[in-house]
Amino acid sequence: MNHLDLPPLTYASGSVRLPGSKSISNRMLLLATLAEGTTEIRDLLDSDDTQVMLAALQGVGVGLTALGGNCWRVEGCGGVFPVKDADLFMGNAGTAIRPLTAALALSGGHYRLSGVPRMHERPIGDLVDGLLQIGADVRYTGNPGFPPLAIHPAEVNLTAPIRLRGDVSSQFLTALLMALPLTGAAAVIEMTTELISRPYIEITLNLMARFGVTVEREGWQRFTIAAGQRYRSPGVLHVEGDASAASYFLAAGAIGGGPVRVEGVGRDSIQGDVRFANALQAMGARIEWGEQHIEARAPATGRLKAFDLDLNHIPDAAMTLAVAALFADGRCVLRNIASWRVKETDRIAAMATELRKLGAVVEEGADFIAVTPAPTFKAGAAIDTYDDHRMAMCFSLAALGGVPVTINDPQCVNKTFPDYFDAFAEITAPVIAIDGPSASGKGTVAERVAAALGYHYLDSGSLYRLTALAALRAGVALDDETGVSALAAGLPASFEGGRILLAGDDVTDAIRSEEVSAGASKVAALPAVRAALLARQRAYRRFPGLVADGRDMGSVVFPAATAKVFLTASAAARAERRYKQLIGKGMPANMHALLQDLQERDARDAQRSVAPLRHCDDADLVDTTEMNIEAAVAAVMSIVERQRL
Ligand code: DC
Repeated sequence: MNHLDLPPLTYASGSVRLPGSKSISNRMLLLATLAEGTTEIRDLLDSDDTQVMLAALQGVGVGLTALGGNCWRVEGCGGVFPVKDADLFMGNAGTAIRPLTAALALSGGHYRLSGVPRMHERPIGDLVDGLLQIGADVRYTGNPGFPPLAIHPAEVNLTAPIRLRGDVSSQFLTALLMALPLTGAAAVIEMTTELISRPYIEITLNLMARFGVTVEREGWQRFTIAAGQRYRSPGVLHVEGDASAASYFLAAGAIGGGPVRVEGVGRDSIQGDVRFANALQAMGARIEWGEQHIEARAPATGRLKAFDLDLNHIPDAAMTLAVAALFADGRCVLRNIASWRVKETDRIAAMATELRKLGAVVEEGADFIAVTPAPTFKAGAAIDTYDDHRMAMCFSLAALGGVPVTINDPQCVNKTFPDYFDAFAEITAPVIAIDGPSASGKGTVAERVAAALGYHYLDSGSLYRLTALAALRAGVALDDETGVSALAAGLPASFEGGRILLAGDDVTDAIRSEEVSAGASKVAALPAVRAALLARQRAYRRFPGLVADGRDMGSVVFPAATAKVFLTASAAARAERRYKQLIGKGMPANMHALLQDLQERDARDAQRSVAPLRHCDDADLVDTTEMNIEAAVAAVMSIVERQRL
């Protein structure tokens, strides 16, 4: 079986740019299709569920153009789909099959909709009942109440209100609301039950309004769409970051120290799941809201507090709370979550089974789950994910209990967040930061420490060297901050089996020349160059861990590094090492010139205004003047082990 081994994690900090919201992406795609005019959608989520929607729209003849960078152009067809007969595969995407069923039922064509086996177990009967009341022709071709479905043209009649259940899924109401304006007639929907997951209806109404259709709402009982409204493209739209996905990182910050910042959603978000942050706050986490970000940190003192909450308004993000409950100081109760039973899997049953593997005592009922954490986590749990992206993402948090955790079939995150584990690693993977001056031996030591731990290795100096070489080759002056930082931002560099390539050219030796060494020190003093290389360096933080060497690994790039070492040696000792190195390679060398050069570079690295080379208070000093490499590696390993990695 395919699996991912997460190492024991002790700390979470950093920031994550969220992928686009699934709920908003699929709604916008459909509304843009149903509208008159062309819509450009930016920051669309690129995942299985949006691919399903895009493929289905393509299947009914909608003009879709990928403009690059998750930007799409959608040619609206005013609800008249060019292809009148099609078989459409809907995977396991509830946000695609429900609204499309309603829109296709009102569009006068012959369509067959099916999905993966689990999709054929997920109810759609309430929506079909609603459509049948107005005369639509929708038939079950498998089990009554479930996909697959066959749709045929029919005259619809909207004189009577549509009576609709809202206690199984709010997507049935969303589907009808989005499709009914296609009829041009006045339409009324009356709920015959409580409506669950209400914030999702607010997303629907908000997006419909952006396309020019307003819905009158009387409480959560009755929804009226006035006659004669048509969707019109608003031109360009942006998809917000996914608030449900934000929950994993915010929880990581609350559990693992923080601060962890998510970028792409903020206080004005239209997604109900941002309220997850309030639930975390109720557990004692410290939350800060920005316009475009949310940040979470652990409580100032003590553990996260136990909770007893009605979570009907945030059913998806609530799963994250069930795993966060493992870190609470007592029994936690999640109430009013019956819809979990009809999602990607029976999430109440799945959650209970998997939480028990970590040692928790779990009670489950028709619509609640209660979690009593164990004093210590059971190590080595292998978590099954039930082809449910949220199970995989939630349970990654369990590794913050300081135990190894295996996630089975981790690729199920592709449904909404293909890069989830890379993003999670960027805030949680252990980092050993080794900083120090040129020729202190830190490169060799760092590489050996990485090999001993089985960690990844980042030689950050090579990125500055590559930038300098790229500038020299392109004829860009080394003090041209704009020009050099543009090169740094798009550096076509790769590291392959010990060789360093620049635009496919092997430059492993070229970047070690004295000219490039001096140039690297110059470009490294430019703030815009450092900024341009920051995200690239942080992306090296991966599981099971990273050893990074440079000048500012512990101070700027990975300030929350698990272990920080300042590795140095006297200038004379360093000049002598470099001298021996060059002579050993049969290259000319002059001891005096080397010493002078090193001292000049040290001075420049130490005196620059940004990220100067310095021994930070929180870094352990290792002076290798009198040490050979083996002794230096042993000294660093003992510091690392002291951090109990
Ligand atoms: O470690 P090195 O000698 O390969 O570094 C080359 C240059 O890049 C050096 O002058 C300092 C600079 N540098 C930096 O400013 N920050 C880093 N994290 C790494 C290197």
